[in-house]
Amino acid sequence: MTKQRIFSGIQPTGNIHIGNYLGAISQWVKRQDTYDNIFCIVDLHAITVPQDPKVLKTKTRELSGLLLAAGIDPKRSVLFIQSHVCAHSELAWILNCFIPMGWMQRMTQFKEKSQKQKEQVSTGLFDYPALMAADILLYNTDVVPVGDDQKQHVELARDAAQRFNSIYGETFKLPEPVIPEVGARIMGLDDPTQKMSKSETASNHAINLLDSPDVIRAKLMRATTDSLKDIRFDENRPGVYNLLVIYELFSGKKRKEIEAHFAGKGYADLKKEVGEVVVEGLRPLQERYKELTADPTHIDSILSEGANRVRPMAEKTMALVKERVGLG
Ligand code: AMP
Ligand code: TRP
Repeated sequence: MTKQRIFSGIQPTGNIHIGNYLGAISQWVKRQDTYDNIFCIVDLHAITVPQDPKVLKTKTRELSGLLLAAGIDPKRSVLFIQSHVCAHSELAWILNCFIPMGWMQRMTQFKEKSQKQKEQVSTGLFDYPALMAADILLYNTDVVPVGDDQKQHVELARDAAQRFNSIYGETFKLPEPVIPEVGARIMGLDDPTQKMSKSETASNHAINLLDSPDVIRAKLMRATTDSLKDIRFDENRPGVYNLLVIYELFSGKKRKEIEAHFAGKGYADLKKEVGEVVVEGLRPLQERYKELTADPTHIDSILSEGANRVRPMAEKTMALVKERVGLG
């Protein structure tokens, strides 16, 4: 039996945090044996908002190192940079011509991001989901593992594929989003009603994968909770709930067991213990990251090999699409 294909992407911007790790990266790592995997560092998505060229390049290399350190294994998964395979931009343009404006206007992420930027908003930011649809559809993807915030975009990719197929005949496979049951939405430590986000700059908002143990502990000690006392998984108490979910995912323990463990303890104990599981959970990743980045040419060769592996697949899809549309 051939394995189903997974495709997913992540932007090389900001600092990668435990939300990205628990909601996306660790889910990818976990499924490497069961699926045929393609992971993409989406630098073309990153430039939908202003970027400093030097920083973008540095962040792209940093993210590659982090993904490899987190356990993405180049023997079992392809890792590559989006802009290295030009079919992504090419298919995005073609899909643009088939995706109604009204579908794009419904995208909640655009509404949120554009409100933050006001008149600086680029056409690329609006059109972002067409490029994401291209990423997914180029590779006959079956499954797209993402955090909760990307579900709507994957559904748009599926709708775009369906629309194209209904006009031109079977061309694209219809992808399915897969959202983790727990961890799909890790919340900000400073404000547990907001999703932990790379673009948030408050110093106590996110735990970044490269934060030192002391920084991790300090951030958790300052996490916003509530004025109640008991420590239970109660979604109506977002601060404590978020800390417990982080503890659950890093410790691998069951909820009942966790509640029993914290019975009679206070929030200071909770924060301290969450700090310890996060520090210990990230330690191997941070050590591996140091080793890997000691030789940057090694990472570059993995990335160029990755692009070489996927380029022929993307070109094959492009040839079919162009044929269908009557281009050339
Ligand atoms: P981004 O930070 O937008 O590049 O997201 C990369 C991946 O991490 C996507 O699959 C997101 O859905 C996921 N992700 C981002 N923020 C969170 C969060 N706070 N909780 C869980 N998953 C997240
Ligand atoms: N838009 C996604 C995010 O910000 C990243 C992304 C780009 C992606 N292309 C993709 C995710 C294709 C899954 C599949 O998180």
